[in-house]
Amino acid sequence: MIRSNKPGERRVLIASSHPLFGQGLRSLLKERHQTGVKVVGMVSNLKEALAALEKLNPDLIIVDYDDEALNRDEFLARFVEGEKKLRVVLLSLQSGRDAVVYDRRTLAAAQIDDWLEEWNYESQASPALLEETGGAVETVQNRRTGMKHFVIAAILVVIVTALLIAGLDRVQILPIQASLQADSIDGLFNLEFRVIAFLFSLIVVFMIYSLIFFRRKKGDDSDAAHIEGNRSLEVIWTLAPLATVLFFAYLGGESLAETLRPDPQALEIEVTASQWSWRFEYPDTGIVSTELMLPVDKQVLLRLSSTDVIHSFWVPEFRVKQDALPGGQDFIRDLRITPTEIGNYKVRCAELCGLQHAYMLADVQVLSQADFDQWVNEQTFVSDDPVVRGRQYAEQFGCLACHSTDGSTLVGPTWQGLFGHEVTLEDGSTVEADEAYLRESIQDPGAKIVSGFQNVMPPDIAADMSDAQIADIIEYIKSLR
Ligand code: CUA
Repeated sequence: MIRSNKPGERRVLIASSHPLFGQGLRSLLKERHQTGVKVVGMVSNLKEALAALEKLNPDLIIVDYDDEALNRDEFLARFVEGEKKLRVVLLSLQSGRDAVVYDRRTLAAAQIDDWLEEWNYESQASPALLEETGGAVETVQNRRTGMKHFVIAAILVVIVTALLIAGLDRVQILPIQASLQADSIDGLFNLEFRVIAFLFSLIVVFMIYSLIFFRRKKGDDSDAAHIEGNRSLEVIWTLAPLATVLFFAYLGGESLAETLRPDPQALEIEVTASQWSWRFEYPDTGIVSTELMLPVDKQVLLRLSSTDVIHSFWVPEFRVKQDALPGGQDFIRDLRITPTEIGNYKVRCAELCGLQHAYMLADVQVLSQADFDQWVNEQTFVSDDPVVRGRQYAEQFGCLACHSTDGSTLVGPTWQGLFGHEVTLEDGSTVEADEAYLRESIQDPGAKIVSGFQNVMPPDIAADMSDAQIADIIEYIKSLR
């Protein structure tokens, strides 16, 4: 494949009628320590060149671009397009020490080494081929080292991906899986973690590898190779992500359908979110609670609504999440959960809903069916003591989330020692906390605001309470002396 007399030697024939061109080129090559390049002769026209071919056996003819006596088109026609295929380069040495090589690239003098180096390995690639490929012919050697770099980087990508996946598996990113619905979601999550680990490695490994091995060498201030584009690469990096995204969309749809699958036997619970508490109502039994009690291995249908702003019901161990919207019946949203693990969890609000958003938590208990039935029996038992009933209602309606019974200050004033005492209001006036005041404060929370507190009580909290329930709650407050 290498047409030279000595292996590794490049034989150059110079075509120019100006001896100065020959001298300039010789000294340029010498200066560049191109020891593998040997100038075998100099010709001043095409006829001489043809005659010299047999005798001198050159690999390359460098034609003086600025020599008007030479017909360079003739050289190109004869050696590039004609039957005698030979590498021909048009070179200009006019512009000072800059060499301009006309094979569709302009090189600075500092780059002539690289160009000659490259040419060493592509002696069989004709300029015509260079034309076709826009001058971006990869040399055999470049291709080999390029492949070497690619193989090393690919192996590193595989190793880093494997390490990342092993690390992710070890750290257990997700909380425990406590619902049937969590299963398909976690399957999708784990697949995504793996794909993300691969993408991360692909980008970071190639980036760091390039930073280390392709950094600019000392003293090299030349421009990088000009690359027009690569159609097959562009097609691949468009289609591959598109296919991946579509595949994940399909899996996501399947997983969503899985989490929405209804069980006609599901236990219905009405969930009401308010700034900043949760209330749970069991329509079958009339139980109202601030704690969510669930029987294990039975699907519950949560019907979510809000009394004020948008909240979001989320128990991380159950994975699924749904907004609770204000606006009444038309805006109720459903969420289906089948708890699979007995234990204690927390509902947290997953929608920024105001000052106390971060503290909008409620306890969730998943119980065995027997324990759940017992809890239902306890809750539906109505005491004949109004104070006991009052405490039960205060818990159920969420009053105790904001009003302490031990003197400590929460969002609202404490109930301890409240009854019968004077209360200072925000306008500085005082009022006695009698039954009428307490009833008014429950039914119309904004009527009198206690000094030092904000009016944040749900305005229509009493709408769900009967008069008898309000009376019982007042009895309970009276008991807290
Ligand atoms: Cu309710 Cu955040």
